[in-house]
Amino acid sequence: MDMDKIIRYLRENQPRFIRELVDYVRFPSVSAQPKHRADMTACAKWLLRHCDTIGLRARLCPTAGHPIIIAKTPRPRSPKRPHYVIYGHYDVQPAEPFDLWKSPPFQPRIEGRSLYGRGASDNKGQNLAHLKAVEAWLKTGSELPCDLTFVIEGEEEVGSEHLAAFLKSHRSELKCNAVVVSDTGMPSLKHPALTYSLRGIVAFELIVHGPSRDLHSGIFGGSVENPAMALSKMLARLIDHNGRINIPGFYDDVVPLSSYEKRHLARLPGTDHAYQKFLGVPRLFGERGFTSTERRTARPTLEINGLTSGYQGDGSKTIIPSWARAKLTLRLVPNQNPAKIARAFRKSLMKHCPPTVRLEIQSGHGAEPYLVSPASPRAQAALRALRAAFGHEPVLLREGGSIPIVNDFKKYLRADTLLLGLALPDDNAHSPNEKFDLDCFAKGQLMAAHLWRELAGR
Ligand code: BES
Ligand code: MN
Repeated sequence: MDMDKIIRYLRENQPRFIRELVDYVRFPSVSAQPKHRADMTACAKWLLRHCDTIGLRARLCPTAGHPIIIAKTPRPRSPKRPHYVIYGHYDVQPAEPFDLWKSPPFQPRIEGRSLYGRGASDNKGQNLAHLKAVEAWLKTGSELPCDLTFVIEGEEEVGSEHLAAFLKSHRSELKCNAVVVSDTGMPSLKHPALTYSLRGIVAFELIVHGPSRDLHSGIFGGSVENPAMALSKMLARLIDHNGRINIPGFYDDVVPLSSYEKRHLARLPGTDHAYQKFLGVPRLFGERGFTSTERRTARPTLEINGLTSGYQGDGSKTIIPSWARAKLTLRLVPNQNPAKIARAFRKSLMKHCPPTVRLEIQSGHGAEPYLVSPASPRAQAALRALRAAFGHEPVLLREGGSIPIVNDFKKYLRADTLLLGLALPDDNAHSPNEKFDLDCFAKGQLMAAHLWRELAGR
């Protein structure tokens, strides 16, 4: 049986696969920071070579931003076989603050079953698991029942700006039955997961302009509005005492959870107490009337991601700062529309800006929320692959994070996405000490190996 050979290949090659993951994580492929431009290219070239070595036909596609890697199974495409696109990203979030890392973020370290390093979980370990599964099919001479195309980009963490245009211009090449993405999470190794919904997002930067320069706070204080205070007040009124977002019309299009979904979400493992301890907060917080799981996956939110003004150095400096800025994101749920929400947000803020300062609102990236049926035959095939690999009954998840490009797969390729995440809740994605669990890596490979057989219905 092909499957036995494949499983054996995966098992026997784990030590090498882990070494390869270490090599991959060693690249500081931080898409947001211009100083890492060369590292981005080096990482893309490493991937290109790697795809080549495992038997894929790979090419590097330059964009106005960071390159995209396209890698295909070697046989010419046949209309008799289904075609799937596997999406992943080789870019990572900035590793700052460095001093909170137990070991340097780009010098991967293995401790127990964890591989530490920026990008280990989000998303290098997860996309490498898919590559390893396909390697096992190809190197054992097994006949893949599907044609596969990997699309691994370098701009996911900064909004996938150039991939959308690429999808558009490569529509026919990328036309597929569905897209497979492992870039989400699962509650535990005993709860492999299929994610059927993601939140959307809109990002803003607020800049409050005050006096034309920093002023002596003793000489001028009391006679001029402090931009940091003006910004703080504007921010503070955005969330009310019930944890609800205070923007007129904000909740108009939110689809409430059905009682069926509420029951399903309530069955997921974990307690509020454990969650509170895990997060290290004295008490949980959120929109009144919803559970923690509902709040972080199925309800919209507003977060301050960064806030700065005035003097941040040693000691004190008595000034009225000339400006204050904040970076904000709102997470959206079905059927909220990013453009409509952005308009409502601007209008409400502008209205509440005092006449003593000038408010500038810059719009950043945006993405629609995603929702797909977990009952399709394709989803059922994915659930079988998860069950076979992890040996546990899979759960269905809504997730709070965003993968903006998923909507573009729908728009340009008319393809749904199967979200089969391999990250654990304590992987520290976007945080110091990010890690990937080596059992998630191995079982993820197994899941990905089973998937192509299950999806082809054999
Ligand atoms: N892998 C995450 C998204 C994710 C994580 C989805 C966990 C579901 C569960 C992805 O790399 C990410 O972080 N995306 C950004 C998108 C943003 C920069 C537009 C996000 O969600 O913040
Ligand atoms: Mn990711």
